[in-house]
Amino acid sequence: MKIAFFSTKPYDIEFFRASSSAFRHTIEFHDFRLHAGAARLAEGCEAVCVFVNDIVDRATLKGLVSGGTRVVALRCAGFNNVDLAAAKELGIAVVRVPAYSPYAVAEHTLGLLLALNRRLYRSYNRVREGNFSLVGLVGFDVHGLTVGIVGTGTIGEKVAKLFNGFGCRLLCYDVRVNSEVEALGAEYVEFDQLLADSDIITLHCPLMKATYHLIDESAIAKMKQGVTLLNTSRGGLVDTMAVVNALKSGKIGNLGIDVYEEEDRLFFEDQSARVMTDDVFARLLTFPNVLITGHQAFFTKDALLQIAETTLRNLSEFEASGSCSNAVEA
Ligand code: NAI
Repeated sequence: MKIAFFSTKPYDIEFFRASSSAFRHTIEFHDFRLHAGAARLAEGCEAVCVFVNDIVDRATLKGLVSGGTRVVALRCAGFNNVDLAAAKELGIAVVRVPAYSPYAVAEHTLGLLLALNRRLYRSYNRVREGNFSLVGLVGFDVHGLTVGIVGTGTIGEKVAKLFNGFGCRLLCYDVRVNSEVEALGAEYVEFDQLLADSDIITLHCPLMKATYHLIDESAIAKMKQGVTLLNTSRGGLVDTMAVVNALKSGKIGNLGIDVYEEEDRLFFEDQSARVMTDDVFARLLTFPNVLITGHQAFFTKDALLQIAETTLRNLSEFEASGSCSNAVEA
């Protein structure tokens, strides 16, 4: 199959090249994003391969179909950037990598928490400058705290196991119960109870209409004073302005995020020489108790290898049978 890759980074090329010898695909790498205007560059390619911030809306899909593309392969788990209804209508398949090292995201979530709680980013800079003062670095024991996990699927389950190892009480909210999580002694509760009783809240549910701004002003009002909020799922789950206000008032004591609702204008590019025009993001950067990473929770070599292999296998399966076990439908 001829595949046009979009938003390609050097690490994509490295891992896809390493995996491609086991498959018979021809790959064209493009370093820019897919959007309606770029769809014609996939002309003659039966497949396109995209990442989280490519714009796969109706206009893009129409352009792809007219150029002969039959399948969109997401090299990620989330699919909120694809208009699935339009894809179905236009007869273009959408496949994804449903699971790739959930440990990568779960471990990064814990990494954010520990770095944030103990202000490791501040102490790193202080020590390098010969400043050994501990003022402002006081943290808390994670052991014994109540952790609220929103979404206990593949990643949420691993997060639950890690927090269980820390000796935390686990409260969970999901539309379905995960028996492995229950077996840890975790308790499934109503969303409002999770908000009210948790010292740490961590988000692992997908972004959908039902979960857009799940954490808004009214949800924050129900949380404990000084709560720690972690989001390694999708930025749109959180109303960022409401979070900024809660950080200012002290209601939210710590914020650790790997995703941001306007990240498609910022992340995955070196913006260091440009003026920051996103005032909300700029405000977030001013808080000493906010730690932001640029959508890197998935970024381990184990995950990149699995992503490359599963994506290429998805396309081989689609080529051979016209369908794929990892298809996503509206
Ligand atoms: P999953 O599909 O295995 O689990 C999602 C869970 O959310 C399921 O148990 C589902 O029942 C639950 N859920 C659905 N609707 C819900 C609702 N309204 N309220 C509460 N829970 C609900 O997905 P997985 O693999 O665990 O991934 C979770 C999310 O993590 C993905 O949707 C993706 O957005 C994000 N992600 C982020 C990455 C990063 O690098 N930061 C990398 C990979 C995934």
